[in-house]
Amino acid sequence: MTSTTVPTTLFSIDDLARACALVAARTGLAFGDRRLHVLEEGCLDGARHHGYIGEMQSHDMIAQYLDALETAETNSPIWDRLIQFLTIPETYFFRDTEQMHALRTSILPALIAAHQADRALRIWSAGCSTGEEAYTLAILLDQLLPDIERWKITLLATDLNKRALHHARVARYRPWSFRQTELSLRHTYFAPYAHDAPGAQDASAAQEGDLYELNPAIRRMVTFAYLNLAEDSYPSTTNFTADLDLILCRNVIIYLPIDVTQRVINRFQRCLAPGGWLIVGASEYHPDIYAQFQLVRIGNAMVYCKGQGEEERRRERDEESRSVGEGIGERGEAAPIPVMEPVVRPTLVDAQPIALIPVRVDCASCSYNMTTALAATDTDVRSEPLSPEACLQHNPRCVYARCGLAKRAADGGHLQEARLFAQQAIELDPLYAESHYLLGLVHDELGELTEAVDSLRKALYLDPSLTLAHYTISALYQRTGRHAEAARHRAIALRHFGA
Ligand SMILES: C[S@@+](CC[C@H](N)C(=O)[O-])C[C@H]1O[C@@H](n2cnc3c(N)ncnc32)[C@H](O)[C@@H]1O
Repeated sequence: MTSTTVPTTLFSIDDLARACALVAARTGLAFGDRRLHVLEEGCLDGARHHGYIGEMQSHDMIAQYLDALETAETNSPIWDRLIQFLTIPETYFFRDTEQMHALRTSILPALIAAHQADRALRIWSAGCSTGEEAYTLAILLDQLLPDIERWKITLLATDLNKRALHHARVARYRPWSFRQTELSLRHTYFAPYAHDAPGAQDASAAQEGDLYELNPAIRRMVTFAYLNLAEDSYPSTTNFTADLDLILCRNVIIYLPIDVTQRVINRFQRCLAPGGWLIVGASEYHPDIYAQFQLVRIGNAMVYCKGQGEEERRRERDEESRSVGEGIGERGEAAPIPVMEPVVRPTLVDAQPIALIPVRVDCASCSYNMTTALAATDTDVRSEPLSPEACLQHNPRCVYARCGLAKRAADGGHLQEARLFAQQAIELDPLYAESHYLLGLVHDELGELTEAVDSLRKALYLDPSLTLAHYTISALYQRTGRHAEAARHRAIALRHFGA
């Protein structure tokens, strides 16, 4: 946030309302009360950067900046600056273990099997941010296709944030992007980037820590492009968003209001070939928005599949020819819906719907907190402010409340449900150590010792002061014969207790 030198009183309530409406109309991004300050700071930054605010400051300057935004195209420098400020490009490789498992073991193998004849796959990472998601798909395909050079793979990755797209094309990443990546994969597909190599331009990076550069062959598999999901430029053959086998749009629609989300999902449905797949973020499931899709559970991941009934295919063709003209479905025969195991219709608990809200709300200012989450019991359900449900009603993205649900489900012996809630909490905020700690406890209860250790290590990586995590991991190590590590964590826990 660079605009602290500009007094925020420059912005009137009307200016703010106008900015809000303008940004929502152009990008779909919605700003609730709690994040209005971000919008205000973004506009002040843009107004200053583009010379609307100088030495002399007045309300008129903000109005002129907003006028300029209004008359400019969304794909233009004045909007680019604001969008960079307002979007949240948080992402990392192999994000969401369950979804990665579903892709690796079921969805991609099924698509590969279905396309043995034409050896063509068409995939889109929509809202790709700095590219980790698209490159993860490229790496998975590289692993699954021994004859990859004989395949025609279209891997499109798009975003609204051009700075993120630039980063994606450069494909150099810091260790934090690999926080869920096996070390062996990093060694196989990335090389340490030598800052002092001839032609190396990222001089500042040398002081900021390690960078790893992606193998050029994988980098070439992905095409990055600007695409605004709030506009109706898709599906279209001209930008490769038609006749797709798979769309990943994860942790994007969570920032959009429900009407925009519905339009985006409807367009995705038309972008997909019959039998194609849509994967959204783990906290972006909704009972109504995806009504035209079949909800499929693969392991612990929920994904959406477009059916391929004759009636549906006919309606599809009609809609496509109306909306994008000739050329869609060039690849001829539709791939059959892949048959895979285990795929079951979700039960009510599995498919626990989560209300979508337009904006990310800062949990730190939420009335619920971790102490209450950990103390939550069945009786709390009725008693505000301790009930996670009550909290989620006013803040559906509250990580603490979701941890509370996980804790309560675990206490009630509903371990699968507890695991799902803990995973949702992690998806909402991967950097919140306590969610990993809770997931570790649940894995332990389920007898999943490797996963338990993994989660507890993540918790301790994020917050080494978590005494109980030291204690629990010490017990786990003890049980699995790793006595030295057990002793080390026990000693740390005791030190924390002051013993
Ligand atoms: C949190 S990142 C998600 C990255 C990746 N999909 C993942 O799950 O790790 C959200 C991305 O959505 C992009 N985004 C937000 N609104 C968008 C829009 N209207 N059109 C295209 N991209 C958008 C943002 O710029 C940001 O890079």
